[in-house]
Amino acid sequence: MGILTRKSVAELQADADHSTLRRALGRWQLTALGIGSIIGTGIFVLTGTAASQHAGPALVLSMVIAGIACAFAGLCYAELASMIPVAGSAYTYAYATVGELTAWIIGWDLILEYALSGSTVAVGWSGYFVSFMSDLGVHIPAALTAAPGQAVADASGATVMGLFNAPAAAIVLLVSGLLALGIRESASANAILVVIKSAVLVVFVIAGIAYVNREHLTPFIPPNAGAFGHFGWSGVLRGAGVMFFAYIGFDAVSTAAQEARNPQKDMPYGILMSLVLCTVLYIAVAIVLIGIVPYEKLNVADPIAVGIDATGLTWLSPVIKVSAIFGLFSTILVQLLGQTRIFFSMSRDGLLPDAFATVHPRFRTPHISTLVTGTLVALGAGLLPLNVLSQLVSMGTLLAFVLVCIGILVLRRSAPDLPRPFRTPGMPWVPIAGALACLIQMVVLPWATWERLIVWLVAGLAVYFIYGKRRAALKRAEATRTTAIAA
Ligand code: ALA
Repeated sequence: MGILTRKSVAELQADADHSTLRRALGRWQLTALGIGSIIGTGIFVLTGTAASQHAGPALVLSMVIAGIACAFAGLCYAELASMIPVAGSAYTYAYATVGELTAWIIGWDLILEYALSGSTVAVGWSGYFVSFMSDLGVHIPAALTAAPGQAVADASGATVMGLFNAPAAAIVLLVSGLLALGIRESASANAILVVIKSAVLVVFVIAGIAYVNREHLTPFIPPNAGAFGHFGWSGVLRGAGVMFFAYIGFDAVSTAAQEARNPQKDMPYGILMSLVLCTVLYIAVAIVLIGIVPYEKLNVADPIAVGIDATGLTWLSPVIKVSAIFGLFSTILVQLLGQTRIFFSMSRDGLLPDAFATVHPRFRTPHISTLVTGTLVALGAGLLPLNVLSQLVSMGTLLAFVLVCIGILVLRRSAPDLPRPFRTPGMPWVPIAGALACLIQMVVLPWATWERLIVWLVAGLAVYFIYGKRRAALKRAEATRTTAIAA
C-alpha cells in the first residue's frame, strides 16, 4: 500500500453515491460552468499582452495551437469525467489510475490551476475595474492597484510603484462569500454572467469587423526580434503557451461531477461544448482586435476596451468594461468553486485536514474550505503581478493535462472492461497528441516559470511526506475498521 495505494473505480463510484453535495446542475448549466470558467482574463487581457510581446497577428495561430491541445486533453478529460463522476478532477482520476503519490502531486499542482488562476483573473478584473472607475472620475490610488514593485501610472501619468492590488483581493473575498452561501445560487448567477461576457465579445466582433485594417494583419508572422519567444515562429509557440491560460476552465466542469444531475452523459457534453464555443469566439476576437489596433499598442490592462475606443464607438467602451467586470467575476467564481471541490476530495482521502471536507448543514457547501481558499487567493491576487501568475498557472495546468492524457492510456490498459459512457476517439493517438502538444507549450515557457513550478512541486512533496502520507494511511485503516465492525 502506501505510496502505491490505489483507489478502485468502484470505490470512487461509491464515494459519488454517498455524495453530500447537492445535485443541482444539468447539461446547459455545466456548459455554462465551463464557459464561465474559460472566458476571462485570457481573452480580455492576455490577448493584448501575447500579441504585443510574442506573436503579433500570428496570435491567431497561437490560439489554434493552444485550442487543439485543449481539444485533445478535453477528449481525455471527458472520458475520465464520465467514467468517474466524482468531485476532484484530475486528482481523482490519478487516484484511480496511478496511485496516491501521483494523485497528491496532481492535486497539489492543480492548486496552481484553480486557486492561482483565481488570483490571476482577479488581477485582470482589477485592470478593467480601475479603468472604469477612472472613467467615472474615481481615481483609486495607483499604488493600491498593482503588485509590490510593479510600475504603474497614476492619474497624472506619473509612474509609481505598486504596493498591493486591493481591488483584486477584494473581489476574491466577495466571490468566496457568495460561494460559501450555496452552489445553486452561485450557478444561476454564473449562467447570467456567462451570457453577458459572451455577448459582449460577440458585440465587439460585430461592431469592430468594419474597422479592421488589413495592413495591421501583415506581416502575419512578424520577424523574430532577436530573442526566443519574441515574434517569429518561436513567438507563435510562446504565444500559445501564454494564451493557453485563456482556454483553462473547460475541465472545471469535471470538478463539479458530484453536483451534476446526470454526470455520465452531461459531463462530456459540458466540457467539449464549452471548449468549442470559446475557441471560435477567441479567434474572431483576436482577428478583429489586432485588425483594429496595431499589435504593438496592445500591451495594456484593458485591450478590448482600447480596441473599441480606436473604432470611435466610444459609447461601447463602458459597456465592454462593465461586462468585463461582471464577466471576470464569474470566472473567479468557477475557479474558486473548482478549487474547493478538489480540496474536498483530497481532505476526504486524508491528504488534507478534515475541515476541508466539512459541509455546512444548511448551505450544503464546504464553507470552511471556501473561506480559507478565498483568503489565500486574495493574498495572491494582491501581491503577485499578472505575467508571473498567468504563466505559472499555464505551466501547472499543462502539467496536469499531460498527466491526464497519460492516465487515460494507463486506465484503458489496466481496466479495459470498465463501462465508459464516453470513449475518447482515436486511441491511442489523441492522448499521445494531447500530451505532446501540452509538453511543447511547457517547453517554450520562460525558464523562470519552470523554476517556480519546481519549487512548488518540491514543497508539495515535503507536505505529503511530512503530513499527508501518514494521515491518509490512518484514514484508510479507520475506514477498514469501520467496514469490519459493520460486517
Ligand atoms: N481561462 C480563464 C481565463 O482566461 C482562466 O481567465
